[in-house]
Amino acid sequence: MTTHSATLQSGPEAKVVDVVIQDGHALVAIDNPPVNPLSVSVRKGLMEAVRLVNEANCATAAIVCAGRTFVAGGDISEFAGPPPLPHLPDVLDAIEASQTPFIALMHGTVLGGGLELALACAWRIADEKTRFGLPEVTLGLIPGAGGTQRLPRVIGLERAARMAANGKPVNAKTFEEFGGLDLVFNGDQMAALAAFRDTLPARPENTSARAVEDADLTALKAEITKSAKGADAPMIALETTALAAKLSFAEGSKIERQTHLDLRASSQSRALRRLFFASRSVTRPERLKALEPAAISHVAIVGGGLMGAGIAAASLAAGHRVTILERDVESAEAGRSRVEEIIAKDLASGRITEQKAEARRAAFAAGADYAAASDADIAIEAVFEDPEVKRAVFKQLSDVMSETALIATNTSYLDPNLISEGMPGPGRFLGLHFFSPANIMKLVEVVGTSVTSDQTMATAFAFARGLGKIPVETGVCDGFIGNRILSAYRRQADYMVADGASPYDVDKAMRSLGMPMGPYELQDRTGLQISWANRKRQLAAGTWPGRYVDIADKLCEMGRQGRGSAAKKGWYDHTDGTGKPDPEVLAMVASWRAEHGTTEQSFTTDEIVVRIMAAIVNEANLILEEGIATSDTAVDIVWTEGYGFPKHLGGPMFWAEETGMDRMREAFEAIAAQSPGSWKAAGVFKA
Ligand code: NAI
Repeated sequence: MTTHSATLQSGPEAKVVDVVIQDGHALVAIDNPPVNPLSVSVRKGLMEAVRLVNEANCATAAIVCAGRTFVAGGDISEFAGPPPLPHLPDVLDAIEASQTPFIALMHGTVLGGGLELALACAWRIADEKTRFGLPEVTLGLIPGAGGTQRLPRVIGLERAARMAANGKPVNAKTFEEFGGLDLVFNGDQMAALAAFRDTLPARPENTSARAVEDADLTALKAEITKSAKGADAPMIALETTALAAKLSFAEGSKIERQTHLDLRASSQSRALRRLFFASRSVTRPERLKALEPAAISHVAIVGGGLMGAGIAAASLAAGHRVTILERDVESAEAGRSRVEEIIAKDLASGRITEQKAEARRAAFAAGADYAAASDADIAIEAVFEDPEVKRAVFKQLSDVMSETALIATNTSYLDPNLISEGMPGPGRFLGLHFFSPANIMKLVEVVGTSVTSDQTMATAFAFARGLGKIPVETGVCDGFIGNRILSAYRRQADYMVADGASPYDVDKAMRSLGMPMGPYELQDRTGLQISWANRKRQLAAGTWPGRYVDIADKLCEMGRQGRGSAAKKGWYDHTDGTGKPDPEVLAMVASWRAEHGTTEQSFTTDEIVVRIMAAIVNEANLILEEGIATSDTAVDIVWTEGYGFPKHLGGPMFWAEETGMDRMREAFEAIAAQSPGSWKAAGVFKA
């Protein structure tokens, strides 16, 4: 047996699917970079491969993939139109029915169509690091080539229904325990294939011909309904998988295929696919593509508080050396403990091995001497939200760091131009706005000043992507893209509370849309004092836009500053840990209205949602008109990744289009009339 590695290399002469026959066995090699999706050329190549191996009467045919993974899915770019021939179900049926039995020889991520392909093979063997899954639901779809019908015939109904409904991959060990694999190997896949062929088991009954034992899925259904949070595909995937116990493979697959095709056209799937593509394009701005990002090895972080510690943990996880700088040695030790706590949690939960934890601890230092930042390639400032403190930090960093190193601020609202003004090497300063908890949340707003160089932006984007983040470019304004929209959201919520809505009804309405929390629950969680300080700053600067409702200020004055405050109260009463609506708050709101002579209005759930969304969509359009955001998808990425807006609704801009701009305009006119002088209309809403 000679090695076939030559046929697995990419090159101008390489075919997408290449068949090499040797010693009576065939190797069917797929090479469709970057992740070997089942594009039409691959499907055609596989059909042809089945014909060839049967014609040559091969004893076995092993499907193997070049590059970092086995087939990682279908070709999503084909999903917008009718699928070109041959269709995947027909290709897979041909593989299953082939006289020459097929072996799936796998590594990397075997996902979606990749797993469906493997399930059609007679045997499945995989490297021990391989992962298997049906992630179609994350794009609002279900499998469309027999996945929901073959998988239960291999691993049992309940396990298959869970994998199809939650979309989460399982590792090789688990998949083997489920009965999904014939062999798990470590290392050389060609050697593993040779060994497997040498002791080839008897050909098993075709998967599609097997019977499926029925199972009680009641508990799983409840679990999926809860986790889906309004997304349709997970329950449809579960129900379709359940058909395997009731119908023949042919009948079940027919329904599966039709459901898959119908879902392709659904609003939820279009929303999710658009976000999927946008999260790739938004994170790689066109104008930066030609620039080579500078290498980052050492990351300095000033301020080891909540945000600094999270950013440090994310940087360590990406393999960087990290130094936290604090005001004094005591604060540095506090920062160190915060970072070590995150590492310990990752270790305890099994997310990382002891070896990795140790490597992260070894790459980490904390202290109070800025000299430690002298060889850092990037510094990120995460000290108190005070422009003078931040300027002093920037000055100290500029003094010790090389002029080519990047210096960034994690400010939530302040202008990075003012923080860096007058300092040497102006092109290297920028804002990198992480979200809390920074070691988990993927969004990072990348804020260029008026003089930040493109080279700096290219390096910052590459650095953020390297942390596994989703960087989105934003221009400078109060709150950048995300928090500026959040301010509009809160303002409209406050106007409705002032005019008659209960804050608890506002929260309920926004949860009914699919938000994880309403605006008042969120304030209780993050603390009311931050936005209070921000409102005071805007009032003092004369930049508060329009009508001012000071109900939240009154709560702060009453000592009700949120769940974490001494009183353990905010909009809700958290004293027993549950967060109950509080009659004291309602009484305060009622007397506020009486004092202001308010004629109370009532708002339905739908009115609350659509009015808040009108405020959000108006602000988002203003942001686009001002060039703060580069595209409507950028806004949608920010709000789905940073603020919990449901991904299956596509983000505020997509939601508005689907809801209808006429309806949005009507709602905008209503909020503008409710609070005259408070809403500057975006172009789309101008009379
Ligand atoms: P924090 O109060 O938890 O941490 C601030 C840290 O900075 C403290 O450990 C403090 O000792 C240190 N510090 C203060 N002055 C310093 C100096 N001169 N030199 C060195 N260290 C100094 O605050 P948090 O929440 O981490 O916020 C930090 C920054 O991140 C702020 O600008 C905030 O607006 C921004 N931010 C906060 C988010 C949040 O959810 N908390 C989200 C995104 C950004």
